Amino acid sequence: MNIKVVDHSAEMAVEAAKIMMEIMKTEEAPVLGLATGGTPETTYRELVKAANEGQVSFKNTTTFNLDEYVGLPASDQNSYRYYMEDRLFNHVDIDRENTHIPDGMAEDIDAEIKAYEEKIKNAGGIDLQLLGIGTNGHIGFNEPGTPFNTRTHVIALDESTREANARYFASIDEVPTHAITMGIESILEAKKILLLISGAKKGQALAEVLYGTIREDVPATALRNHPDVTMIVDQEAYAAAKVPGEEDVHA
Ligand code: PGA
Repeated sequence: MNIKVVDHSAEMAVEAAKIMMEIMKTEEAPVLGLATGGTPETTYRELVKAANEGQVSFKNTTTFNLDEYVGLPASDQNSYRYYMEDRLFNHVDIDRENTHIPDGMAEDIDAEIKAYEEKIKNAGGIDLQLLGIGTNGHIGFNEPGTPFNTRTHVIALDESTREANARYFASIDEVPTHAITMGIESILEAKKILLLISGAKKGQALAEVLYGTIREDVPATALRNHPDVTMIVDQEAYAAAKVPGEEDVHA
């Protein structure tokens, strides 16, 4: 794993956008795996800026998002479709037909899940998957205990995840209980992975990725089985990462 420690989230965004744009410039039909949440917001702003300055075009890019809440329509401002339109798609020259996010309102969820996997395959797989990480070590919405061999599936969200995401909703009762998420096996099939970790509260999750035993209780440890992972980590997260059983990683 490559790890790059940066001072703050603005620098993280510049570095992450650079890596994503490199794929978009070198691949004829780039396929990006995208993530939502607080961490990648500045990266999307950076990409929008670069696109508006003519440094990069999304014309030939196809995207697949990691996950979507079950039960939220695209028009709901907490849906991940809404997030992507608002943060990225509305501001760049991407063809909407090439943007994919699981449909949390699908009547036949099983069919939706199968179709999603099929679409990724038909696009030739994901060239670069952008990832955040949960404080509990989840990637996508693969919560602790998710088998490493899962493909796209429906998952019951951990209470800790619902609590972490309640900041976007009027109350925790409104946070959906389930989501559709790409599975760990589907994520690991991406040719390259770009993991962003920001803030002191992610320190423990970072330590697990770097030093923890690879285990299903901490889904992100599965990333150590991938040959091409780049991590961009801010100082706050890095300083808070403790090697299990030791003072801290910098001692
Ligand atoms: P965050 O979420 O970027 O909002 O912290 C990351 C995640 O839960 O995967």
